Amino acid sequence: MTDAGAAVRARGLRLARGGRAVIESLDLDIPQGSIVGLFGSNGAGKTTLLQALAGLLPARAGELQVLGGAPRRSGRDIGYVAQVAPDGAFARLRARDFVASAWRAERWGAALARSARRAREAAVRQALHATGAAQLEQRGMDTLSGGERQRVCIAQALVNPVRLLLLDEPLANLDPRAQLGLLDMVRGLRARHGLTVVLSAHDLNALLTVMDRVLYLAGGRGRLGSVDDVVDDAALSALYGTPMAVARHDGYVFIHPARGFMAEQATHCGHDPQHAHAHPEHP
Ligand SMILES: Nc1ncnc2c1ncn2[C@@H]1O[C@H](COP(=O)(O)OP(=O)(O)O)[C@@H](O)[C@H]1O
Ligand SMILES: [Mg+2]
Repeated sequence: MTDAGAAVRARGLRLARGGRAVIESLDLDIPQGSIVGLFGSNGAGKTTLLQALAGLLPARAGELQVLGGAPRRSGRDIGYVAQVAPDGAFARLRARDFVASAWRAERWGAALARSARRAREAAVRQALHATGAAQLEQRGMDTLSGGERQRVCIAQALVNPVRLLLLDEPLANLDPRAQLGLLDMVRGLRARHGLTVVLSAHDLNALLTVMDRVLYLAGGRGRLGSVDDVVDDAALSALYGTPMAVARHDGYVFIHPARGFMAEQATHCGHDPQHAHAHPEHP
């Protein structure tokens, strides 16, 4: 795949929050049409990276190209679903109005012309249908279950003709059945629309069946590759800068420090920044 065909290309990318570098230097080529699972401990920079890809956070250094150009805040071809649920006025909207609020016409007139209104209604219906949320269109956002709300939020991200879909912790607070349903839906979107999807998750195991690449963040750096390439003792040790080990059991993956795991947990309760990354990937 050429660089022009990459959905995301980063070279020496540096991202900072509050004056502190969260990502020091990241090199990436995400091929179009792939589903990438984004992992790392709390605070590793998953949200920070997704916001940069969505054009919401500028790069501090290095180069970032999304769909062949600079990431743009209003890019109609990038759909982004934030980690936090919609609140305030959004929470009181009906699902279809919530989805419609993100629709962008080619040109806004003083009033939305009738043909544009029809196009918007069609786009909203199509997006709700694509995420299996058509029957929710009249429901208030604040009346939806976690799984239903997540589908409507993804529909909102798809109401424009997007080619890259960014989902921040879409499985959080969903029960296992809702998680599976959502991942099936994501798989379908990729198959039908050729979307590139980057989705973050706390637990690697939840995405094992859906992702074809892993992007693992630790210590301000990241590594992208197949599950076997990245979820590997040597690769993770290099990333964390400390010996790490991968255990596989019953189809599940557990990542932990290579030595003294139990002792570290007991003495530091996982709060020591030196060991804060050292959590197992619970199923
Ligand atoms: N608005 C902010 N201002 C200052 N620091 C922030 C802000 N948002 C996030 N951070 C910090 O940036 C780091 C990365 O956060 P984040 O990208 O949210 O991590 P993740 O999503 O992997 O848990 C954390 O140390 C976090 O405390
Ligand atoms: Mg986050």
